[in-house]
Formats: sequence, structure tokens, C-alpha cells
Amino acid sequence: MKFVFKKDYDQVSKEAAGIFSEIIKNNPEAVLGLATGSTPIGLYKELIEANQAGVLDFSKIKTFNLDEYLGLGANHEGSYCYFMEQNLFNHINIDKDNYKVPSGLAEDYELYCKQYETMVDEAGGMDILLLGVGENGHIGFNEPDKALSSKTHVVDLTEDTIQANSRFFDSVEEVPRRAVTMGMGTILKAKKIVVLITGEKKAEVMDRLLNDESLDPQFPISFLRGHRDVTVIADEAACEKIKR
Ligand code: GLP
Repeated sequence: MKFVFKKDYDQVSKEAAGIFSEIIKNNPEAVLGLATGSTPIGLYKELIEANQAGVLDFSKIKTFNLDEYLGLGANHEGSYCYFMEQNLFNHINIDKDNYKVPSGLAEDYELYCKQYETMVDEAGGMDILLLGVGENGHIGFNEPDKALSSKTHVVDLTEDTIQANSRFFDSVEEVPRRAVTMGMGTILKAKKIVVLITGEKKAEVMDRLLNDESLDPQFPISFLRGHRDVTVIADEAACEKIKR
């Protein structure tokens, strides 16, 4: 796991944009894994700017998002599909058929999850996957648990996550209790992983990631240690609790 430390959120976003730009320029048909949350918004702005300046072309790029809330359709303002369209897809020249966000409204999730896995595999796998991290160490919606699921699956969100994500909804009651997420195995199959960790709320996660080398399903991000090409980009605020 490689760590890159940057001064602030803006610098983290620019560093990540540099990595994504290189992948896209080297392979205009690259397959990207994408994340939601506040953290990637700066990176998405950089990618939009580069696309609008004619520097990056998304016309043949394919993307797969990590996760979605159960019960929310693509047009619901709290859905991750809506988030992605507002913050990235509507502003770049990506083909609508080429971006996939897991459905929040599938009828048969056992079947749907298998189909989502197959779609990623048939696209050739993710060349690069972007991750943020939850305050409890979750990635995608792989919540702390006794064991982690490998494949795309449905998950019950923890109370911590429901509280943390309630800022995107009018009230905490509106936050869905369940979600669908790529599994840890799906994530680890990506050829390259970039994790963005910013802000003081992530300081404990950052400290643990650097100082505790165990693989612990109660701290899902620790499983990224099993991958050979992970770059964590963090800002000073996220590093304020690092003990050494
Ligand atoms: C959600 C998403 C995660 C994301 C996390 C952190 O729970 N499922 O993929 O990493 O939020 O979000 P933020 O970047 O807003 O802190």
C-alpha cells in the first residue's frame, strides 16, 4: 500500500485526477470503478474540467459504481445514481449505456448481484477503482462484520453509517436501511485502487490504517492490504491523529 500525503482536499483531488487522467489517456476504453460521498466530488470536478477543455475523452470509457441504496430509484435525489449524474456523468461525454450504478429497485437481488458481477467481468474488469472510506472503515458499503462477503451483495447498513450519511437526506428517517454493494472480492479484483481519505472525521481511520497491520473484517479497509497496487491519498486533516 502506497501512501501519498497532500496538504489539503484540493491537492488530494488534483493528485487523484492526475492518476485517473493517465489511465484514461493511455486507454480511452478503460473501465473505471467509481465511488460516491463528499470525498470524490473534487476529483470529479477536475475530470469534468479536463473533459470540457478537450483534454480527456470519455466517449468509450465504461464505469461501474460501487453501491446503491435499496429502495431508491435512479431519479431519487438521495440515490447514488442521481449523485453520479449530477456530479459527473451529466457533465462529461460519457455514453449513457456505458455507466452502471447498481439498481436500488431490482426485484430479485440474488440474481441481480450475480448479473452485476458478470457485467464487470465481461467488461474486462476494472482498470482502476476509486474508493472513499466510511468513518467506521467501510469501503463501498462493506460494513464492519464478523466476515466480509466477496461478491456483490445486499447489506444492512450500520447505525453509524445511517447517521453519517443522513446529511444527504432531509432527515435520518429517510436514509435507507439496506444497500447493494460490490463485495470485497469484487473490489480486490480491480487492477489498480486509489483511496481518498480527507478531513478530520477520517483521522481515526487513517491512524489505524497506518499503525495496525492486521486484516480485520471489523475494519474492512484493512483488506486492501491484500492488493498489490493500492495508493492512498490523504490530506493533513486526515493525518492529525497519526501516532508515528
Ligand atoms: C458512503 C459510501 C462510501 C463512501 C462513504 C464516505 O457510505 N457508500 O463509498 O466512501 O460514504 O463518504 P464521504 O466521502 O462523504 O465521507
